[in-house]
Amino acid sequence: MIKADVLLGLQWGDEGKGKIVDVLTPDYDIIARFQGGPNAGHTLEFNGIKHVLHTIPSGIFHPTAINVVGNGVVIDPVIFRKEIEALQKLGVDVQSKLLISKRAHLILPTHRLIDAASEASKGKNKIGSTLKGIGPTYMDKTGRNGLRVGDIETDEFMEKYSALVEKHKQLLSFHQYDYNLSELEPTWFEAIEFLKQLQFVETEHYLNNAIKNGKRVLAEGAQGSLLDIDFGSYPFVTSSNTICAGACNGLGIAPNRIGKVIGIFKAYCTRVGSGPFPTELDNETGEKMRQIGREFGSTTGRARRTGWLDLPALKYAVMVNGVTELMMMKADVLSDFQTIEVCTHYSYRGKTIDYLPYNIDPAYLKPVTVKLKGWNKDLTQIDNKAKFPIELMEYIRFVETAVETPISIVSVGPDRTQTIRM
Ligand code: IMP
Repeated sequence: MIKADVLLGLQWGDEGKGKIVDVLTPDYDIIARFQGGPNAGHTLEFNGIKHVLHTIPSGIFHPTAINVVGNGVVIDPVIFRKEIEALQKLGVDVQSKLLISKRAHLILPTHRLIDAASEASKGKNKIGSTLKGIGPTYMDKTGRNGLRVGDIETDEFMEKYSALVEKHKQLLSFHQYDYNLSELEPTWFEAIEFLKQLQFVETEHYLNNAIKNGKRVLAEGAQGSLLDIDFGSYPFVTSSNTICAGACNGLGIAPNRIGKVIGIFKAYCTRVGSGPFPTELDNETGEKMRQIGREFGSTTGRARRTGWLDLPALKYAVMVNGVTELMMMKADVLSDFQTIEVCTHYSYRGKTIDYLPYNIDPAYLKPVTVKLKGWNKDLTQIDNKAKFPIELMEYIRFVETAVETPISIVSVGPDRTQTIRM
């Protein structure tokens, strides 16, 4: 039986999932996003043009692939509309290629206000949220108050909207947060009208029928495993399950219908927002990595924190996701480093351990690294693994051995063509 494959990030997001989904789309009939929302920014580059997608799956540029926004995704109609209009300008036929789950939850203007109010109230403990209303929307989902895409087609939509906004107003007044909702609502309602031209579907039926009929499905994750609400560095996480199990919940695909689990990681690490980051390089080396890797957020423009590859964290992500193959991104960024460090263990409360523990706060946990010789060679023009420098091959083997999983693709630049199959 044909099974659905899952592609997800193994670090703190921004691993380069968008590029790989775009590269792999010709092998699939359907690309389905399963969680997150416009906090994500999936970047694709081809023919000299750069595209950033927030909610729409990264298969949208393929001429025939169907793209599904699953029930696990939260949608901001205003951002969604902008994304669709930008694609339509490029001549992409979004209407026929995009299906939206009726069960996906809507981000209201007040969700964004609550996000901002809640972050402001946290002071120095703030999460560093993208402030797109993600947390408050998932809170309303689990609190059973949420408004869903399917509600748009019902007569009770306005009534449900108003009831939810009343609740939000109480919360905002508790936070003593100043806002002007009447400035935000017209654009939101116009976007809701705009969305009505799209296909609202019971995507769980659509996807399961497709799998039954031999269609190849790729589930696309957003953010990364270390931002997972359960397994990430809580509370500095996002509000959804970013791990493989999230694809089952977020699409209605049963666990025994999952095939390959493709884990994407960068040859080093980055993190945007607050929270512990064991291998962080808060120094010149980190700055060099940030500049060469252009590590600035595609959604918020914030500078990303940078650090060496963290193998115990990668092993953890491989474990909780059941990763069957790895893809290593941005190997080219390390070309300018004479020596490359890799974290193999942690020193945790005086003991050396080789796994990611519950508490990764820097007061308890320090990275133990080994130094490897860099390859010091431009990789961006390489078109075949046979031309890889020996030191890069050694780096690849070192990672594969440590995490006991093969690397099937190494990316050496942002363009579709800079993708080397191993
Ligand atoms: P939120 O999901 O916008 O509330 O953000 C929660 C945390 O996850 C913050 O540290 C964000 O910077 C981080 N985050 C959310 N989405 C992404 C992403 O797509 N890439 C990287 N970090 C993200």
